[in-house]
Amino acid sequence: MKKLYIVLFAFIGLTATTTTAQDYKDVAHIFYSRCTSCHHLNQHAPPMMNYSQTMNLAYALSADLTGNRMPPWPPDTLYSRFTHEHIITASEKADLLSWINQGFTMGDTTLAPTPPTYQQYQLNGTPDLILSTGAFASNATLTADAYDCFSLPTGLLQDRILRAYEIVPGNVPIVHHVVVNLDSMATTTSNTAGNCWTITGDIGIGGYAPGSPPTVFPGQAPLKAGIRIKAGSKLVLQIHYPAGTGGQMDNTQIRLYFYPIGTTGVRTIYNSVPLQLWSLPIPANTTQTFTQNYALSGDISLFAVFPHSHKICTKITNYAFLGTDTIKEIKIDNWRFDWQGYYTFPNLKKIPNNYTLHSMHFYDNTTNNLNNPHNPPQNVQAGTSTTDEMFFDAIQWLVYQPGDENIDVASILANDPLLANVNDLATSSFQSYVYPNPANDKVNIYLSKKADYKIGIYTIAGQNVLQTKTSEDATALDVKNIANGLYLVEIKDIKSGETISKKIIILH
Ligand code: HEC
Repeated sequence: MKKLYIVLFAFIGLTATTTTAQDYKDVAHIFYSRCTSCHHLNQHAPPMMNYSQTMNLAYALSADLTGNRMPPWPPDTLYSRFTHEHIITASEKADLLSWINQGFTMGDTTLAPTPPTYQQYQLNGTPDLILSTGAFASNATLTADAYDCFSLPTGLLQDRILRAYEIVPGNVPIVHHVVVNLDSMATTTSNTAGNCWTITGDIGIGGYAPGSPPTVFPGQAPLKAGIRIKAGSKLVLQIHYPAGTGGQMDNTQIRLYFYPIGTTGVRTIYNSVPLQLWSLPIPANTTQTFTQNYALSGDISLFAVFPHSHKICTKITNYAFLGTDTIKEIKIDNWRFDWQGYYTFPNLKKIPNNYTLHSMHFYDNTTNNLNNPHNPPQNVQAGTSTTDEMFFDAIQWLVYQPGDENIDVASILANDPLLANVNDLATSSFQSYVYPNPANDKVNIYLSKKADYKIGIYTIAGQNVLQTKTSEDATALDVKNIANGLYLVEIKDIKSGETISKKIIILH
């Protein structure tokens, strides 16, 4: 009797929603576009590149999806949007859950789309400079984290402008995060005793946290931007090795791309930490809210925000205000120390002169906070150790120029040749997954929702070589007759006008 119910139920389920996924082959593209950028070999997350690897995580899949823990994206997307969002649409999530609830049906896995290939480095092209820490054994103990600072001479003979960088841990699972500062005066030295809580250097460059993409500043009209690096300066890399990693080897590198010498019109990106607070008394078993304000003197264009706290903190909100008017920046209602980084706005965000930057951090020092490093809770103060607390919100910004608010950073980056390998740049209401890349005779396009689409393939010079329309969420284009080369696939939602473009290489 029980069996019959299940059969009937499954049957009704199938007829009611004809798009319900059934086999692995029907959901594989969701894992490939939403999960495997972190979940592949040599990354910090367990691989999920095929059916059997996915089944190794079966025990946690449903709970992590329904609990919104995976894919990890703490910022509230109803408050503000960013480039490089790790998100999943409601319909994709429903498809995964229905596949899970139907018992993870394997089906014929040879019909599944080809998994994406990941290169060792995410940025295309050859870096102008590669600096590395050299072989280093983590000096964390079983119970204490280690923070080590490596001061690396750039050896630059003339001033350069940084256009992009990629931080590549030598041993991904043991590198918790990396913070990079510039030491323009070259006065710092390495401190690898494991207690380099505070990084030296005079100019913030950026950093790396698990899953964070490489940093690329817009490098083509209407916005060329970068960070100026003085000849002879040093870069300081602060690396956090978590407790338990002692003795394991690492060799982290930073790969730097500069504008060609003599490039003009490059605007400076500044890193500042206008909102910080070093008095944070948080008694055990209490919750506390702290706020900070910073009044601007001069119009600025915000490029990115980097809110920062440790493990007692559970919520952070940043906005700018004048009277009752607010300009939203970022809202994180489930702050997680493990997921942090620079959040880049899809458009430059103008904050006018007389506005005040505001930040609120909420700290939950009770047992309700599952990330509380102390059990039972202890009195906590401001400090740089992970078991202390911090309130330290950085911004990356430019001096405002008229028209900045119209600069579409997301699409400049989407067309950046350095980023042609990075498949998750999208801020539109639909997402696409184009594979394989390079393509031989067929290009498959998966779309996150059904709509009327116009799809075109263009040469880099803008010449159209293929044009088609579809109302489906999956389509295959025959590219047998298209010459070898680099192309742009443009997918336009006809009704909303939103367009996604992806680079693809055709190689017969
Ligand atoms: C930004 C990187 C990133 C993305 C994208 C991502 N994950 Fe994860 N995932 C991780 C990391 C890192 C871990 C290891 C555990 C941790 O630190 O939370 C993990 C762990 C997991 C686990 C195991 C958790 C456990 O309790 O053992 C599951 C299941 C999972 N992810 C599912 C997914 C699914 C499904 C997607 C896509 C819809 C996804 N993840 C996307 C980084 C990511």
